[in-house]
Amino acid sequence: MVTSFKKYQEEYQKSIITPIDFWDHQAQHFVWRRKWDKVLNYDFHKPEVQWFIGGKLNITENCIDRHLPSRAHQTAILWESNDPAEPSRRITYQELAKEVNRVANMLKAHGVFKGDRVCIYMPMVPETAFAILACARIGAVHSVVFAGFSAGSLADRINDCGCKVVLTADGAFRGDKKIELKSIVDEALKNCPSVKTCVVLNRTKLNVTMRAGRDFWWHDQIKTASDFCVAEEMDSEDLLFILYTSGSTGKPKGMVHTCGGYMVYTNYTFKNVFQYKEGQTFWCTADVGWITGHSYILYGPLSAGATTLMFEGVPSWPDMGRFWHVVEKHKVNIFYTAPTAIRSLEKAPLSFVEKYDLSSLQVLGSVGEPINEEAWHWYDKNIGKGKCPIVDTWWQTETGGIMISPLAGITKTKPAFATLPLPGVQPAIMDESGRELTGNLCEGRLAIKFPWPSMARTIYGDHQRFKDTYFSTFPGRYFTGDGCKRDEDGYYRITGRVDDIIIVSGHNLGTAEIESAIDEHSAVCESAVVGFPHDVKGQGVYAFVVTYDPVHEEGHLRNEIKDVVSKIIGPIAKPDKIQFVSGLPKTRSGKIMRRILRKIAEGDVSNLGDTTTLLDPAVVDEIKRGAM
Ligand code: WTA
Repeated sequence: MVTSFKKYQEEYQKSIITPIDFWDHQAQHFVWRRKWDKVLNYDFHKPEVQWFIGGKLNITENCIDRHLPSRAHQTAILWESNDPAEPSRRITYQELAKEVNRVANMLKAHGVFKGDRVCIYMPMVPETAFAILACARIGAVHSVVFAGFSAGSLADRINDCGCKVVLTADGAFRGDKKIELKSIVDEALKNCPSVKTCVVLNRTKLNVTMRAGRDFWWHDQIKTASDFCVAEEMDSEDLLFILYTSGSTGKPKGMVHTCGGYMVYTNYTFKNVFQYKEGQTFWCTADVGWITGHSYILYGPLSAGATTLMFEGVPSWPDMGRFWHVVEKHKVNIFYTAPTAIRSLEKAPLSFVEKYDLSSLQVLGSVGEPINEEAWHWYDKNIGKGKCPIVDTWWQTETGGIMISPLAGITKTKPAFATLPLPGVQPAIMDESGRELTGNLCEGRLAIKFPWPSMARTIYGDHQRFKDTYFSTFPGRYFTGDGCKRDEDGYYRITGRVDDIIIVSGHNLGTAEIESAIDEHSAVCESAVVGFPHDVKGQGVYAFVVTYDPVHEEGHLRNEIKDVVSKIIGPIAKPDKIQFVSGLPKTRSGKIMRRILRKIAEGDVSNLGDTTTLLDPAVVDEIKRGAM
């Protein structure tokens, strides 16, 4: 553990000068069936990265079994229902072992073996955690799909990696709503030939149709499953999971993470960033359907033997004080959430915060998008009461774990700055011509110069795209897609995406993906989507839409377009603003000038830059006049 800033500096230096020794040492703290022969192989041009080569392990032995002698009766997962009246559940490490093994045996009984892909489309309940760990137990590759995606998005993800089994529930509770998960799965499975089995957890008691031979009830299956299952021996570089993230083109990218490096890195970052101390209760409010949930609800905390809180509900239900109620009820010590949640809670009367005793809190975290200074100060003052360090953690689905962040209580923080790279992380700020900017004060694009253990190894089934997306912009370096500044103290501030990805309420969305959904509406000829600053969501979705015929009822068509997007991608991608235009600003070669649309969407029309190269400059004036 890094326990002081001086130690951080020493450890950082060590990790840069002798990275092999550094990570060799870190990896010793785990249970391996066989030690590695070599720490690292890499070539960022191919690209190829392998860590702890020849090592054999099972991550669940590190997250569960090895804790049993010392903490069998400690709570591993503390679950809080959507409904405050429903009792919480405490799953001890001992119980977790049994439950995970049961689900593992259930999967085996359905013919799932090492290397098979299993799709998990489930609510935030402990069974979802059991399912994820059960896959890891038997060496199956989990592909968790956020239970807010539509049937079409789910089917795309199932088909992309050829899942054999889908684990789901009848429905999910979200505040006062019930989401009909099983019927979404039914719709998706019409087009998923690889799926042989679907196991359904009963959560909401919604009526569902069960297809004989394919669909089974979880509770029936689990009854007969033994609670003993030997963990599969995995190679360090065997696949642990696939997790989809949006890309600049329409198709989502299945990021591939492997067993050894991911385990070592998520554990190291969990302990050091949050300065986790034995006995603390850690609450990460993300959904397990995202990387934050994978790394910091499950693998990081459990590998460290922590108590991790899993919350099924939403921050605003039954009222805007729910998060703080849960903090008080479970005496949460470390609280990790997203700026979008902070901004929405900041808008509620302070009495929702003041009602609760938040004195258990020791560390606060933020993740998912840049946190604005105002939200940072509100969080610091009202939630942390000025005494809890805030860790603004920058990282990505692709990086697997936190990359740039303060260490709680150790690194001096600065609002809106992710501050300094963690040991083992070598950032570089690049200019547009591909030169690295040296010296402290500078701004450019963020790249990483050297591999770290939990980096994604490839995009499932498309290594060329992996190379093109991440390793071609700056040959020999990993390109993050983010803009970044370094200040006079060498602190890093992430300024946002520089590609065609927008982050809406912490969810990454590709503008191309939304455009192709909008274009599915029969009245739409073409569209262009950009982000615009949004008070609560961080960024909102602004769509410029060209229709075949003049629009008579704009409101009606807007709603229809929103429904189409919701149906094709999911409610998270619904445009906030839709402006009907007669044409889009295009270059003579037919490329949409997004720079101009972005400025208009931001409400900054004073200086649109050079528009003389446009095919039809008049269209810009029309768009400016109609801007919303
Ligand atoms: C953004 C989430 C600023 C960034 C873990 C990144 C952030 C993208 C921060 C990845 C932060 C994440 N400050 N921006 N602390 N954390 N981002 O894959 O643009 O869902 O590239 O992973 O979120 O989002 P993803």
